[in-house]
Amino acid sequence: MDSRLSPTLIPVPEVLHGSRVLLRPLSLGDAPALLQAIDESRELLGRWICVPDRVRSLDDARVIIARDQAGWLLRERLSFGIFERGGGCLLGDVSLLHPNWELRAFAVGYWLRRSAQGRGYMREAVRLVTRLAFEGLGANRVEIRMDPRNVRSRAVAESCGYVLEGTLRRSRLDKDGKPADDHVFSLVTDDYAGLDWHNHSLSDVR
Ligand SMILES: CC(C)(COP(=O)(O)OP(=O)(O)OC[C@H]1O[C@@H](n2cnc3c(N)ncnc32)[C@H](O)[C@@H]1OP(=O)(O)O)[C@@H](O)C(=O)NCCC(=O)NCCS
Repeated sequence: MDSRLSPTLIPVPEVLHGSRVLLRPLSLGDAPALLQAIDESRELLGRWICVPDRVRSLDDARVIIARDQAGWLLRERLSFGIFERGGGCLLGDVSLLHPNWELRAFAVGYWLRRSAQGRGYMREAVRLVTRLAFEGLGANRVEIRMDPRNVRSRAVAESCGYVLEGTLRRSRLDKDGKPADDHVFSLVTDDYAGLDWHNHSLSDVR
């Protein structure tokens, strides 16, 4: 991979196939599905992420999608909609965030609509973008941060082999404006090489 390339010119595959999910960037035509997924899950998601606050109308959904499209073009964030394979229903989002293209480091962020939770879809989606980061984009490091109270998110990170590095204490304001901690989980190249899931089909991700 040519490190002199402007990030905008770095090739990134736009479709990732898992055994049960398909990942692709959202287009403006997905705005009604995005709004419906968020409306269904507003309270559940709103405790941990700000997307529900930002998306209250179809126009808001279009704006978020346009922002993600711009972020994709500039390689400033790589956001994928998660779709059920076959059915095509929008299940949620998984993104490679805050790319540092020189260091080849990324963060992963994600959410699932209420009706898609508890089925292992996110484990599969996080493995797909983790594989993209290490094998497609030459990552040296991928991290996932979450509020220590967010046990569902922690379970996703752990099930994908991410390692708890530590806790950043009182490092940000939570949704109520109170100082809050962040757990930092990460994978570096050596960890990734030692994982047993990345050479196999992602059909059984427990
Ligand atoms: C974080 C979040 C995506 C996790 O969702 P989730 O449904 O728990 O995660 P998965 O899709 O990986 O599903 C795992 C669960 O499905 C179960 N499961 C059912 N069928 C499965 C299958 N075929 N394969 C794997 N797991 C399966 C697993 O056992 C597991 O449940 P358990 O932990 O009770 O054992 C979701 O809680 C969410 O959207 N939260 C709000 C947003 C958020 O917090 N984002 C992260 C911010 S850091």
